[in-house]
Amino acid sequence: MSHAQQAQIPGSLCFVRAYAKINLTLDVLGKRTDGYHELATVMQTIGLYDTLCLIRTEDQRIEVICDTPELSGGDNLAACAAERIWQRKDALQPVRLPEGLTIELSKRIPVAAGLGGGSSDAAAVLLALQQWWKIPVSQAEMVALAASLGSDVPFFLTGGLALCEGRGDVVTPLPPTEMGFMRWLVLLKPPIGLSTATVFQHLSASDYTDGRYSRAFSTAVRAGASPHMGHLHNSLERTVLERYPEVARAKADMLHAGAQLVQLSGSGPTLFAPFPDLKAASDVQQCLQAQGYDVYLSHAVHPNSGNVCCY
Ligand code: C5P
Repeated sequence: MSHAQQAQIPGSLCFVRAYAKINLTLDVLGKRTDGYHELATVMQTIGLYDTLCLIRTEDQRIEVICDTPELSGGDNLAACAAERIWQRKDALQPVRLPEGLTIELSKRIPVAAGLGGGSSDAAAVLLALQQWWKIPVSQAEMVALAASLGSDVPFFLTGGLALCEGRGDVVTPLPPTEMGFMRWLVLLKPPIGLSTATVFQHLSASDYTDGRYSRAFSTAVRAGASPHMGHLHNSLERTVLERYPEVARAKADMLHAGAQLVQLSGSGPTLFAPFPDLKAASDVQQCLQAQGYDVYLSHAVHPNSGNVCCY
């Protein structure tokens, strides 16, 4: 019998889905005085997700047990998120309750891939525990808590389609929009992991924009117009393709397999290609899988409160 099974308080389980994201646009405007970069990025959650099962236990520990063993333990961002919101609960109820938390994490989003998996797991824990423990935190406090965990985490509190500014933590939701050109998405994760910090470090000033791609995308969506391939852009792509030949090779292979456009998501290394229909997308997916690549077929999703299922 596992540790979690032994110590679980009866009737205290909560399942939550944590969706991945892609960056449809990513403008880097320049370097800030705090070491971060000023961004404008349009992000979209997609149907690739991790599943978290939160289990209240009788001991006062917070731990993650993951099917990717190196992500288990107390250092995982999901455990940090639980710790932070737990502190908030304790602040409201100074008598420490005799309980802890085990987070079982079924990992399906590739790690260190530019798909926001760790950030999404952390946001999912915040949302689930806020609902479960009925913690009266305002939306602004939740956003601040999320931003303290990572620049992408606030986006995942709402998900869907959103314009994210500042260091990525100032989120303006955009209306769900049918994007015919990307009804289906083929994602390819090249066989390397990238550090976001390293990618930002290698940017040159010539990669900066004035935010025009993200602005044009948001303006089109708000006006009820359909965005198109010409709206996509990622300021980090040039440096990633130049420094990491595995990513450049994967991009060339995707184009050769039949993708019309291939773009880096976030700081990479994952690349995505949009397709207007399933046949074209699955032909390209199969061709790339036959070459030994790690490939996913996905689509945009707009999560809602149904993501959290508590018992
Ligand atoms: O916020 P997060 O921990 O995800 O960021 C990881 C690293 O990426 C930061 O330490 C920073 O080096 C870089 N970064 C940046 N500008 C941003 C977001 C991240 O330079 N807007």
